[in-house]
Amino acid sequence: MNFFTGKNKDSGTNISELRIPAHVAIIMDGNGRWAKKRGMPRTFGHTQGARVAETILEDASDLGIRYLTLYAFSTENWSRPEAEVNALMNLLRKYMQSSLEKCARNNVRVRVIGERSVLAKDLQESIEVLERATASNTGIGFQIAINYGGRDEIVRAIKRASGEGLLTDPAAITEDMINGHLDTAGIPDPDLLIRTCGEQRISNFLLWQLAYSEFYFTDKAWPEFDKAELEKAIEAYNHRERRYGGLKA
Ligand code: FPP
Repeated sequence: MNFFTGKNKDSGTNISELRIPAHVAIIMDGNGRWAKKRGMPRTFGHTQGARVAETILEDASDLGIRYLTLYAFSTENWSRPEAEVNALMNLLRKYMQSSLEKCARNNVRVRVIGERSVLAKDLQESIEVLERATASNTGIGFQIAINYGGRDEIVRAIKRASGEGLLTDPAAITEDMINGHLDTAGIPDPDLLIRTCGEQRISNFLLWQLAYSEFYFTDKAWPEFDKAELEKAIEAYNHRERRYGGLKA
């Protein structure tokens, strides 16, 4: 983005003329490859990736995005080497503990999605503290997916509904009812899904919620993703025609 003209240097489009998606979800891929290319350990890539996550949250808020959801740790990521899992958990722990003041200053509301009961007790507590402290903030909603799997979330939603006795009458089983029992209850579905570093799959992320989202893939690795890249994705989104299964307007 050119500071003086406000135009995106690659396209000449002015970001202020674009429709801003209300909810952007991101699969932050490529930390390991990015680090390896530089002769560094994979965990170096994750550390840089966590920094980028914090910067992109600010950029998203500046652009007027209302919700940002980041895939930080999947239900499948436990199969990585123990040292890498620990490094990722420590980055998340550090974020929860160090961002209270920043979230207050920037009016950010944090929600962690995913099955948190298997996380370390102290991490669970830091998550709860940060969620509680930011719950009434009215700025951007920041969802961090930790030990998250889309299928697991749907199973847990159904179990929750069952626990409330809501599955006995088939007529009462509706999309709204299931929606209301997901970890993302109350949050609109993503308008735009971004995945970095070349892969084109959704890897068990927000399976229910991405039903009508637009997808944007970039070859940039997550540690090199920045505001200009986010603007490019928003620009591509503006060229999409969303029909939700209907016909051209
Ligand atoms: C995928 O890259 C990335 C992850 C599994 C972890 C992403 C987590 C962070 C960036 C930390 C998030 C922190 C906050 C504060 C939200 P990969 O390592 O699988 O990449 P590769 O495919 O190149 O190996």
